[in-house]
Amino acid sequence: MTAGSNVYLLPQSNYLRSMHTIIRDRQGSRADFVACSHRIIQLLLEASVELLPFDKRDVTTPVGETYLGLSLAAKLCAVSVIRAGESMETEVRDLLPGVRIGKILIQRDKTTKLPTLYYSHLPDDIAERHVLLLEPMLATGGSALAAIGVLLAAGVTEDNIIFVNFLAAPEGIEVVSQAHPGVRIVTSSIEDRLNDNAYMIPGIGDFGDRYFGTVDCGASGVTA
Ligand code: URA
Repeated sequence: MTAGSNVYLLPQSNYLRSMHTIIRDRQGSRADFVACSHRIIQLLLEASVELLPFDKRDVTTPVGETYLGLSLAAKLCAVSVIRAGESMETEVRDLLPGVRIGKILIQRDKTTKLPTLYYSHLPDDIAERHVLLLEPMLATGGSALAAIGVLLAAGVTEDNIIFVNFLAAPEGIEVVSQAHPGVRIVTSSIEDRLNDNAYMIPGIGDFGDRYFGTVDCGASGVTA
């Protein structure tokens, strides 16, 4: 992976770019959008798990030889930021069977325009855990800061937070990195910039609407 000290960008392989091509196509079907998102989320989570600590664990194979193995050393928790973050829960359960999953709901207040925390439910011992914070879109960074703030208030240390992210704007990366240099960001794409409506460019439209099918066409660009 490449990029800044706290930013881990997935290798921009032809395969990954072909998945991005399908999900960014405004004429694409929702079924294709969900299927390709699923594959990219798997790659993101595999890369994120690589950043966790592992212990040596040797085992004896059925032919009596020693395999010099590894075993995940970290106590873990995934925390999804409702609603888009929930799109990553199936893959996190596949990769880490039995993983605990906390939830955070943050929405922008219509009057103040500030991200407001509406709900959070986290395991009691989250302070002792490494956290995979599931939030596909990092645009202005406002809701990311609010979500990280909830984790820090619950006793999680910055170094134990991995922000698992699908698309990131340079503006959002800057905001998070400045405020929380210990938080690692794993992403599959760094976009060019934000437009006046805080959508990423070239972007993907509204991820949640496209993934969950809550808009048929228009800003999200979904036609099926
Ligand atoms: N959220 C999205 O879903 N898309 C963007 O481009 C920015 C924020």
